[in-house]
Amino acid sequence: MRVLGIETSCDETSAAVLEGTGDDATLRSLVILSQDVHRIFGGVVPEIASRAHLTALVPVVERALDESGTGAIDAVAVTNAPGLVGALLVGTSFAKAFAFARGIPVIGVHHMEGHLFATALEHANAVPPFTALLVSGGHTLLLDVEAWGRYRLLGRTRDDAAGEAFDKVAKLLGLPYPGGPHIERLAAAHESGAYHFARPMLRRNQSFGDPDYFDVSFSGLKTAVLNAVKSATLENRLDADRGAIARAFQDALIETLVEKTGRAARQFDRGRIVLGGGVACNATLVRAMSDRFRSRGVQVFAPSPRLATDNAAMIARAGLFHLERGERSSLDLNAFAAQPIPGLVAA
Ligand code: KG4
Ligand code: ZN
Repeated sequence: MRVLGIETSCDETSAAVLEGTGDDATLRSLVILSQDVHRIFGGVVPEIASRAHLTALVPVVERALDESGTGAIDAVAVTNAPGLVGALLVGTSFAKAFAFARGIPVIGVHHMEGHLFATALEHANAVPPFTALLVSGGHTLLLDVEAWGRYRLLGRTRDDAAGEAFDKVAKLLGLPYPGGPHIERLAAAHESGAYHFARPMLRRNQSFGDPDYFDVSFSGLKTAVLNAVKSATLENRLDADRGAIARAFQDALIETLVEKTGRAARQFDRGRIVLGGGVACNATLVRAMSDRFRSRGVQVFAPSPRLATDNAAMIARAGLFHLERGERSSLDLNAFAAQPIPGLVAA
């Protein structure tokens, strides 16, 4: 089957063509157009994002079809939740029109289920069963993936998403948006030790069943950074200490994510951990995970940055899974700002 994937949930306009069956599918093309305009505003402006998708989507799809070497498409998979509803509407409207005109099926895909599939496009072993940590600008989810389509929600953030924490801390430190890559670069150039922030939601005596055993929270860490920035500014040391603060923040966040992910893998006896979402671009995080679990024989998989951030290849792959199960969306497929992942059960 040849699936055209479309992703417009936030600030990337993306289209991809995926061909084949299940875990053997091959990516024929992937085009991602990032909307740089939001940098000026320090965050994504929803209405600007929708309009930019409207302008970009047709040429992006044409390019993906051209690069795939075939115009023959058997089905369309499109992100229809969660995300910016206006942005999602552009993708779903286009996908429905494309499918209707060609007389082929369309399937709506949950954006976070897409992130779960991204790594499998590059690593043949990043397939269930595995523990998944999805860390993006809008979500932080810890899941047990028993099989494709069978997801157990173990933990989530109580407040800010991991990527959001990176972006807000970057702003406090006077770094550009999106902040993740800037913090990582700055942190890598500094030793830890000058500053230390408490690890959020990590207590030694926690056990399975405690409400905060798997959950994370980053608002306290953000406040700790704010206080450090204020003191450093008052003492005229911010320029000198910026890197040390970035390092201490990243150390605290990474240690928390590594510990919570380890708990999940242990609880369900999983030999594989799969990372996804934009924060999975953070090589320091991926290295910390690999270093921590290698000795226990647990493999850690992370997608390349192109597939970690928002892209249509992962949407085509998740769509293919649902299409192969015989699922189809109707032409009244709608866009939703929030919706649970299909197949998700509570812990
Ligand atoms: O998955 P994504 O592209 O979009 C959402 O669905 O949100 O994730 C974007 C997030 C941003 O918050 C960005 O700062 C973060 O991913 N990010 C990083 C890195 N690269 C991107 N965070 C930490 N380290 C990085 N190297
Ligand atoms: Zn995403």
